[in-house]
Amino acid sequence: MFGNFIWRLLAEALPATSANPRLNAVFWIYLFFATSALAIYQNHVKCFGTGDCQITAAYQGGGFNDEYHRWLIECSDGEAMIGIFDTYKSFLGIAQVWCYFIFPLKPPAIGIYPFYPVCNVRNFTQYEYYCYDKRFPTDTVDTFTTAIFSPTSADPVQPTLMKCCKTPAPYKLDYNRCQWKYTHDKTGEHYDGFWVVKCDTNFVMTGIGSAMNPWDSQLHFVWIQCCPVLTVSTPPAAQQLYAKPQISYTS
Ligand SMILES: *[C@@H]1O[C@H](CO)[C@@H](O)[C@H](O)[C@H]1NC(C)=O
Repeated sequence: MFGNFIWRLLAEALPATSANPRLNAVFWIYLFFATSALAIYQNHVKCFGTGDCQITAAYQGGGFNDEYHRWLIECSDGEAMIGIFDTYKSFLGIAQVWCYFIFPLKPPAIGIYPFYPVCNVRNFTQYEYYCYDKRFPTDTVDTFTTAIFSPTSADPVQPTLMKCCKTPAPYKLDYNRCQWKYTHDKTGEHYDGFWVVKCDTNFVMTGIGSAMNPWDSQLHFVWIQCCPVLTVSTPPAAQQLYAKPQISYTS
């Protein structure tokens, strides 16, 4: 009885695609769940045995999931963002990010979020392109990019916020050797290759910059900043345990 009521309600609420009201409801329910799920989640994260994950940023957006405080495009535990690409819209947005497993000595968060305990939000709209902020040096030193966020869904996504987190012990950043990787060549033409804009080995992303393009008067992402990771001390014995498999069930 109640089931029939639901079907009738759906049949009346949804635009008609079939003379059979039940078929019509099935169609719309399918369209709502299947297509939105496919568009957003399928092949969204692709991970490799090397510890790298590439995250597709297409059609992402729509707000923080406050219940879990999750970002929509975010690296996993022990990973840092190291590269971006947009092969077909000249970095008007960011189509994919590359997350690299670079902190193997970090004790794992065993799936519990957040993966990094100390983080800041940077707002591109306020020209906060770098993780480091000289107004808040102690809060922002040794922070790297781990997530980006956009309020609106677009392909490629046009992020407005960046999440920067502190390197876990025993890691720090070497600010004397930071580099900038540009998304365009000397004449201003944007690269359209895959993963051209990527930090060198053992560097992590610490900033993303955008600028108005004089030819199309639109904001393009023009560089990423990359800083090298330093291992500053031998980690304590308890922490070293995490770097290799446990061999006993009792310890
Ligand atoms: C980012 O800055 C813009 C412009 O000042 C502001 O409108 C927006 O609310 C800020 N976003 C966050 C999350 O603070």
